[in-house]
Amino acid sequence: SDTGYDAWLRYDRLPAGQAEALIGWCSRIVMPEREGMLGTVRRELTAALASLLGIEPVVTDVLDADADAADTPGAGRALVVATAERAAGLGLLAGEEAGALHADGFVIRTVRRGDVRAVLLAGGTARGLLYGAFHFLRLASIGSLNDRALEQLDIADRPRNPLRMINHWDNMDGSIERGYAGKSIFFRDGKFIADKTRVRDYARLLVSIGINALTINNVNVHETETKLITDELLPDVAATADIFREYGIRLMLSINFAAPIQAGGLPTADPLDPAVRAWWRERAAAIFRRIPDFGGFLVKADSEFRPGPFTYGRDHADGANMLAEALEPFGGIVIWRCFVYNCLQDWRDRTTDRAKAAYDHFVPLDGRFKDNVLLQIKNGPMDFQVREPVSPLFGGLTRTNQMLELQITQEYTGQQRHLCYLVPQWKEVLDFDTYACGEGTTVARIASGSAFGRETGGIAGVSNIGDDPNWTGHLLAQANLYGFGRLAWNPELSAEDITDEWVRLTFGGDPETVRTIAEMLLDSWRIYENYTAPLGVGWMVNPGHHYGPNVDGYEYSKWGTYHFADCRGIGVDRTVKTGTGFTAQYHKPHSEIYESLEQCPDELLLFFHHVPYTHRLHSGKTVIQHIYDTHFEGAEQARGLVARWSGLKGRIDAGRFLQVLRRLEEQAEHAKEWRDVINTYFWRKSGIPDARGRKIY
Ligand code: GCU
Repeated sequence: SDTGYDAWLRYDRLPAGQAEALIGWCSRIVMPEREGMLGTVRRELTAALASLLGIEPVVTDVLDADADAADTPGAGRALVVATAERAAGLGLLAGEEAGALHADGFVIRTVRRGDVRAVLLAGGTARGLLYGAFHFLRLASIGSLNDRALEQLDIADRPRNPLRMINHWDNMDGSIERGYAGKSIFFRDGKFIADKTRVRDYARLLVSIGINALTINNVNVHETETKLITDELLPDVAATADIFREYGIRLMLSINFAAPIQAGGLPTADPLDPAVRAWWRERAAAIFRRIPDFGGFLVKADSEFRPGPFTYGRDHADGANMLAEALEPFGGIVIWRCFVYNCLQDWRDRTTDRAKAAYDHFVPLDGRFKDNVLLQIKNGPMDFQVREPVSPLFGGLTRTNQMLELQITQEYTGQQRHLCYLVPQWKEVLDFDTYACGEGTTVARIASGSAFGRETGGIAGVSNIGDDPNWTGHLLAQANLYGFGRLAWNPELSAEDITDEWVRLTFGGDPETVRTIAEMLLDSWRIYENYTAPLGVGWMVNPGHHYGPNVDGYEYSKWGTYHFADCRGIGVDRTVKTGTGFTAQYHKPHSEIYESLEQCPDELLLFFHHVPYTHRLHSGKTVIQHIYDTHFEGAEQARGLVARWSGLKGRIDAGRFLQVLRRLEEQAEHAKEWRDVINTYFWRKSGIPDARGRKIY
């Protein structure tokens, strides 16, 4: 039965009417015989077109139409695939336009030269061609390339973010930190998996959505993984890099800041120690000898018990710059994570606020990082909760390269047992205006580098895939990976357009199916929020694994994650006036909006304010009634997802239909557990009954 392994690259046979037009243009593909990325383009195009159209396209190196074939269908027409330079040489692209094409960009255009009419697919480089090829195949798959469209194609596109990256949290024993879709596709039992079939298929999925970099190992770098940069394991790393290279994806590694001690036998990892610096330089040289296009290092330092420069009285600029200096001669970069906070807090201490930590650590260092360092910042100031404000570090830094870090894996959003489509959440983050240099300084523009004229930047997402047959556990969670890539390519795409694309690619064009699944996806974040932690307060999960409700699970812990509910009220006072002062980390008007109880948006109220249960929201409801209402409603909506999906029976193959149905049923059950735990907790704390008299335990 259909497991969903092909994800959005199914290339199901098109209906005859749709196929006909394409057959006319694509039976002959003109492109040079080459290996490497061009070879990938050829393989992908021929295989996909064969599958979509039921033909075997002829690949030739010659543009001019074969006179003998003049009366065969499609005669004189072709799909011409060429780098911009070659396209200009063939007279199909103006020299000026070819010269100006972005390296990763592409043009898809209907052109004519003499008797030959062609769909020209031109890329700034071979990598641009790869992206263009997948764009063309996407349009073909969703049926938008009819006769008329093919006669007048004129598309130009390029990525908005230099780095479009996936971070794996895979360990070499095969486990995945916060992984909900099986085991690692890279590692097993302390070794690399020899069979690289899945790695290759994964690379195809990633390049098809524009990803160009990836780390394969967990940011928490344990003992075995520390050795990935040693001569012992580098040949294995190189073999994996070889595969991704064919798909235009650069490999990077998460490193252990204490590697000079643990793998190098030095007495210290002090970033200012000459022997330590020499050790990293030597390692960088050794890595680049084997992997000439190696990307660089991702670093989690001085965070959650990981080693870092603080041990030696140095700061994060000292640490990052040392690594950057080692990688610089080879074009490598350092991505330094800003997830730095005190994870040994005393819950009695009301002055320390974890939300403030990243800003407090990194804003004073702004401008001190080398040009090949990027600071990677989580979207929110806490940790990938269902609802958080945007991290004020975006807008706090203006002289430093930055990356936005999103979590595709659903650690706090249902762990791929619940449907929670995150593209709408990510859109809110990307569109958030920091006002760092006036109106329009959005997170999207800061991350890409364009807001402050920086040369590099980008978006990283923590992977949600594993070796489950459908990659993501929940089949519909594939949409999160797809949407992540599309947004990293272009943050201006709308959630609706991305969703529509994904559904059509994955389930075909039946209007009822497309509408139903798209609506389910777009509603799902709000539904999940409804039955979990209310009004932006976060964290009401079981400690450790983070699945399922536990209101006080983190209330008396050292992790800095509190809601402060008592018999009168709930929420964290982060105001300047009476609280932790976090609101001051934002520019105006957000600093004022969040500071003000009247202006603070409802969905973030408890993140910024401690209020009585009887406090009235903008919606007109009291906080307590809002909690009851959203939890009853959320559980109903989760049940509704089952009904909506069930209506598609017979429209979707049984294999995929049933696996999604099972997950949705589990979600509906578990949503009831959330509803009852949360409602009961607040009823017992507040003593205020539900105005509608529903069952609370
Ligand atoms: C979260 C997550 C950890 C992870 C950490 C990080 O806290 O629970 O498993 O290591 O984020 O991003 O470094």
